[in-house]
Amino acid sequence: MQIKGSVALVTGANRGLGLAFTRALLAGGAKKVYAAARDPASVTLPGVVPLRLDVTRPEEVAAAAAACGDVTLLVNNAGIFLGDGENDGEAESNARRMMDTNYHGIAATTRAFAPVLAANGGGGIVNMLSVLSWVALPGTGAYSASKAAAWALTNATRIQLKEQGTQVVGVHAGYIDTDMVAGIEAPKASPADVVAQALAALEAGGFEALADDISRQVKAGLNAQPPSYAG
Ligand SMILES: NC(=O)c1ccc[n+]([C@@H]2O[C@H](COP(=O)([O-])OP(=O)(O)OC[C@H]3O[C@@H](n4cnc5c(N)ncnc54)[C@H](OP(=O)(O)O)[C@@H]3O)[C@@H](O)[C@H]2O)c1
Repeated sequence: MQIKGSVALVTGANRGLGLAFTRALLAGGAKKVYAAARDPASVTLPGVVPLRLDVTRPEEVAAAAAACGDVTLLVNNAGIFLGDGENDGEAESNARRMMDTNYHGIAATTRAFAPVLAANGGGGIVNMLSVLSWVALPGTGAYSASKAAAWALTNATRIQLKEQGTQVVGVHAGYIDTDMVAGIEAPKASPADVVAQALAALEAGGFEALADDISRQVKAGLNAQPPSYAG
């Protein structure tokens, strides 16, 4: 689908990658960009329509879909990263919180907006995944599980919404230079570059964007011996 003339809704649009998505969508000629955030007052970019949306709150998801009946592009960007935890209690709580946001959040917005997209001609969904959808690092087990679940959901959604003409793109990347990984010393992709590749894949009619070298290497290694996910 084309960005020009689209009506987009970006979750977690107040900062990080979500902010980069809103900027790029405006620059690409989107007719309207709903910048959804847990706190709409934290949306400061001129030219967007701030919207309250915590993706873990069913009432807010339903209200967003009811209020934004013109959406043609849903960008499921909101996500959290928590470590695997220092003890059993923290491990379970962190894992549940990440599944809630990174998997159930996307599932909820997708269910709510699928009929909106259908009514507007099909449109598209971009899901922000990770190279950790495929592999885990020490301390990222539960995050990887939540992103693997989101990848499976992305693939299921593509099949389920094919008949209504909705294009579904999964975006994979390693470290991206945002608050989420501010404490990690490692090479990082720029948010603008990741977004550019995600939107290029969408405009090309693609199903996936591999936004940096590490995601391309890991994907290529899935079928190697030993495979990239074997650790
Ligand atoms: N940074 C990386 O290295 C990296 C790599 C691969 C994939 N990703 C993925 O890219 C996406 C964006 O991450 P980022 O790097 O931009 O992280 P970030 O800088 O930490 O920003 C996260 C965004 O998600 C929002 N958010 C969190 N929980 C939410 C909820 N329940 N409902 C609505 N919004 C919520 C945050 O809102 P608040 O301001 O209210 O907290 C914030 O806007 C995530 O899905 C992340 O997993 C990131």
